[in-house]
Amino acid sequence: MSRKLEFALIGCGSFGEVLGRYILEVADIAAVCDVNEQSAAQTARALKLDVPVDTDFEQTVRRPGLDAVAITAANFVHAPIAIAAAEAGLHIFCEKAMARTVAECWEMVRACRKKNLRLTVGHKRRLRPSWGRMIDLTRDDGPLGAPLAITVSQYADMRPYAYPGTWWADPQLSGGHLAIIGVHVIDWFRAMCGDARHVSAVFGPRMDEGYKYPDVLHATIAFHGGAVASINSTLHNPLQKFRQAQGPMVQCRHGGMCLSPDMETIELNWQRLDEESPHRELFAVAEEFDPAYRREMGDFVRWVTEDRTPCLTWVEGLRCVELMEAIYRSAEQDGAKVELPLSPEV
Ligand SMILES: NC(=O)c1ccc[n+]([C@@H]2O[C@H](COP(=O)([O-])OP(=O)(O)OC[C@H]3O[C@@H](n4cnc5c(N)ncnc54)[C@H](O)[C@@H]3O)[C@@H](O)[C@H]2O)c1
Repeated sequence: MSRKLEFALIGCGSFGEVLGRYILEVADIAAVCDVNEQSAAQTARALKLDVPVDTDFEQTVRRPGLDAVAITAANFVHAPIAIAAAEAGLHIFCEKAMARTVAECWEMVRACRKKNLRLTVGHKRRLRPSWGRMIDLTRDDGPLGAPLAITVSQYADMRPYAYPGTWWADPQLSGGHLAIIGVHVIDWFRAMCGDARHVSAVFGPRMDEGYKYPDVLHATIAFHGGAVASINSTLHNPLQKFRQAQGPMVQCRHGGMCLSPDMETIELNWQRLDEESPHRELFAVAEEFDPAYRREMGDFVRWVTEDRTPCLTWVEGLRCVELMEAIYRSAEQDGAKVELPLSPEV
């Protein structure tokens, strides 16, 4: 295909414009849509687009000349938008979390398979320089060897985001606690350790009734390769901003590493067991995002136009939602072991 891909951008809240800028580096946007007409119009203006502005995604996906949709709407409409887009013959780039449940994810996959369409979920964290460096250090030929155990604390202060009262705080609309904080790290766990075997999790005491799910959660995942990973979160710890939380401590076969994110810089320390002192690597937060968004979007476009293997497909999205759902199911049964995969594979 020699011409540029034509996207519809569906979902014009805080993130639509962000992703829109990366789409426009490699493709065109021929329509925007949001149920909130003002948001859609504002995003079109911010992106300097003179294109139709819709409030009904069913109408958008049927517009002639489109090749693909980018779904940046709230999580509860990812599946309906993706299915409508697939029925209209459009390739799909969907933001994380892929959907609210693994059943919804499989519906999206089936709709795309029927029409032989490409479906990518934007799990950019594994593509960020600092987080990608940790993956590289643990590759077969990397200095640290295989990851054996990972601990992530995400005791974060989410108060500035004022989630209570929004779709994010309702599990029926967002998918639950880990959709707010955890979805990125859980995908990165899979990039580090492969597919999971089982999970167990517990909820802690409820802190803020404004969240319609427990806001304290501890979970442990066991992977087929033998590694274990724990992710523990609260949403009200004043000591860490969102950006400062989530730094993993990793035990590897030949050493260890620790990522310490801060507002401007991210510090990675790693050391082999046979070394005297750690290697210290610094990453600028400002340089973390462009390469990740460019890679995920560029790869999606090249997958559609040149049939080149992309860095991300629907598999990452579905397995991540499956892990999150397994964690909730375990926590609802006070820590019962939940085996994966959750549903029959289709
Ligand atoms: N990859 C990342 O780093 C990243 C960062 C932020 C957000 N996201 C994802 O992007 C998505 C949007 O997040 P946000 O922060 O912009 O949320 P938001 O609440 O600011 O925006 C969501 C938008 O979806 C719209 N919407 C709801 N129903 C719709 C429908 N039927 N049709 C069209 N639009 C509809 C809302 O009106 C709203 O404008 C989420 O899935 C989120 O997880 C990804």
